[in-house]
Amino acid sequence: MPFLRAVANEKDLVFSNERIWKQQRQIGQSVMKKLAMRKQGLEHYIKEEAHQLVGTFAHVKGQPFDPLLPITNSVCNVVCAMAFGHRYSAEDGNFQKLTEAIDLALKCGGSFIYALREMFPWVLKRLPGPHKKALSSREFVLLFAKEEMKKHKEHHLLREPQDFTDFYLLQMEKSQGDPNSVYNAENLAQCILDLFIAGTETTATTLQWALLLMATHPDIQEKVHKEVEGVLGSSRSVCYQDWKKMPFTSAVIHEIQRLKYASLFRIIRQYAKDVNIFGFLMPRGTFINPDLNSAVLDNKQWKTPEEFNPNHFLDKDGNFVARGEFLLFGSVDSVCLEEQLARIELFIFFSNLLRAFIFQLPSGVKKSSEQHKVGLTTYPHSYKLVAIPRSRAS
Ligand code: HEM
Repeated sequence: MPFLRAVANEKDLVFSNERIWKQQRQIGQSVMKKLAMRKQGLEHYIKEEAHQLVGTFAHVKGQPFDPLLPITNSVCNVVCAMAFGHRYSAEDGNFQKLTEAIDLALKCGGSFIYALREMFPWVLKRLPGPHKKALSSREFVLLFAKEEMKKHKEHHLLREPQDFTDFYLLQMEKSQGDPNSVYNAENLAQCILDLFIAGTETTATTLQWALLLMATHPDIQEKVHKEVEGVLGSSRSVCYQDWKKMPFTSAVIHEIQRLKYASLFRIIRQYAKDVNIFGFLMPRGTFINPDLNSAVLDNKQWKTPEEFNPNHFLDKDGNFVARGEFLLFGSVDSVCLEEQLARIELFIFFSNLLRAFIFQLPSGVKKSSEQHKVGLTTYPHSYKLVAIPRSRAS
């Protein structure tokens, strides 16, 4: 598709093909493994971001506010930590431009103008509009990444790589002279852009839905809080492995994702060879874009598919049950590169927030729209809520 081609440049982690995709995916996977194996791993950064987010919410002092911007800053900072090894202050002007640029690029995808741009590329290429803004946002994120790459080259010891940029630069050095290598500065910048695009709005949207659903389901919210407190007591901080001791909280997070899936469709793929599916021949080159609705809202698989019901992920004894139909991160042959990171983020942000606050709709607001808005992700209409600090409430 011409516009996606212009955005991704066929060099990236998500929309490239064959040799380029394989090599980019390979380095993405191996860096993630190496970062996860570190003593403190990426979980350390996520805990720090969750701590900052709780602080930001507390600062509002129980007044109604829109949680989107603080959540976006936090999840964007997790990607910064992974890509560059450090976070940015929410007051940093360049960081603010970065989050705006990611938002603009994503909002254009899924819009009417985006569809027109794909259908009439030659006409719209010459006209102004959100598609032009999306392309200049892309340029901004690439420049941001290149600036960081420059600093890494100047200040880091590549023999002791600490983050995605270090590992990639080291790989570039190692593969110098290899004519088949696709590791170069342009492709690194494009991969970083992909991490921001794929990793910011998906997670932020899920957390946005999470808080809205908790505000509208106070009984479930209270049950999660009790479970978190029961496992952690009053002093210990939460870590990802705690999910095993918190079946109800884990079921609630899965149910939020099932009902309010962040992405309506998976990523468009092409068959690399002829494939026969239930007697239908899909010739090599056919585009495929699986419709997630068919799995996550299937009334043959879920007791109450249209309702928020954490029991979908619990057995009769209250144990957590993983479900094969939960395809939110993709499936065996084609899955989210950072599924593990996303799961850690959702669990740690969610349990920290529910431990610290009671979430409610502002007084006078009886109901908030739970309808989706569709862009590249499916996100809620903007809403305000109140976060009452637990210490003050009890
Ligand atoms: C709630 C959070 C998230 C959800 C639901 C999600 C879901 C997905 C899905 C469905 C795919 C497409 C799989 C396929 O069809 O091939 C995907 C791909 C991808 N995701 Fe995620 N994701 C999330 C968070 C993240 C995060 C935090 C990052 C990185 C920081 C990330 C990076 C990627 C990348 C790079 C790809 C492309 C992989 C490839 O083409 O090989 N995702 N994600």
